[in-house]
Amino acid sequence: MAVLETFALEGRKVLVTGGAAGYGTCISQGLAEAGATTIIASRSEEKRRKVVDSLKAAGYDAHSYYLDQGDEESINKLHEQLTERFGPLDILVNNAVLRPMKGYRGPLDQWRESLEVNATGMFHLTRLFAEDMIKQNKGSIINISSIYGMVGPSFSQYEGMGPAWLDQPPDYYFHKAGMINLTRFLAAELGKHNIRVNTISPGGLMSDQSEPFLSRYGKNTFLGRMANPDDIKGAIVFLASDASAYVTGINLPVDAGFTAH
Ligand SMILES: NC(=O)c1ccc[n+]([C@@H]2O[C@H](COP(=O)([O-])OP(=O)(O)OC[C@H]3O[C@@H](n4cnc5c(N)ncnc54)[C@H](O)[C@@H]3O)[C@@H](O)[C@H]2O)c1
Repeated sequence: MAVLETFALEGRKVLVTGGAAGYGTCISQGLAEAGATTIIASRSEEKRRKVVDSLKAAGYDAHSYYLDQGDEESINKLHEQLTERFGPLDILVNNAVLRPMKGYRGPLDQWRESLEVNATGMFHLTRLFAEDMIKQNKGSIINISSIYGMVGPSFSQYEGMGPAWLDQPPDYYFHKAGMINLTRFLAAELGKHNIRVNTISPGGLMSDQSEPFLSRYGKNTFLGRMANPDDIKGAIVFLASDASAYVTGINLPVDAGFTAH
């Protein structure tokens, strides 16, 4: 098979959790553009509808489903609905994240809340869909971590932007780092079933950030800038597709070198 053909995702079914905001939208677009049947699951129907409608309008095969990853029954229901309609999935992208904690001194209830969604819910959902992949002896699972799963906070970036910016959420750093090693565990566990499990650790996505943050952030990268919406697409399609058939257990930073120095 010619190499570019190995990147094609026609006939593949993919679920992107939290696929209608920020990086999730970019990931859903990239997978749909590569030909995948792209299923987006999250809590806000309005946000999902916007992304799914724009993908459909561009001629792609996209679908929208409700998911509260903090609720075991909601995860079970999504699994039932998708299995009934689409059969076993080929690709799962664990992208959803809840960020209730705003700083080091945030209430423990917020720590518990994000743990339920980002750890317990994510694991339950992964195990359910992986069971179907085991039955068909193939699959690709991609966990979206972050540069902040690899390094600690860079407080100097936020100087002069107000006290809220200098108080970073510890739960986020904990979950994102945990995801990288859970990836290795799952790669080891599921490899015998021809299921690959990899992490992508993206850098900061450009949105409405302003100076001086933008230039300070840029100086922390080799390429001098934050990510644009297209920057993650190549990595996600690579890890989802047969182009990465011999790749499992890795953490691929897509961060312009933020974590390389
Ligand atoms: N934005 C960035 O600069 C950046 C940088 C590095 C990594 N990331 C990672 O990218 C991923 C997306 O983050 P983002 O910042 O682009 O978008 P975001 O934080 O705005 O969106 C997260 C998504 O998760 C969904 N979500 C939250 N709680 C949920 C729940 N209980 N059930 C179902 N869905 C739920 C939200 O609805 C949303 O769609 C995350 O895994 C994040 O860690 C983001």
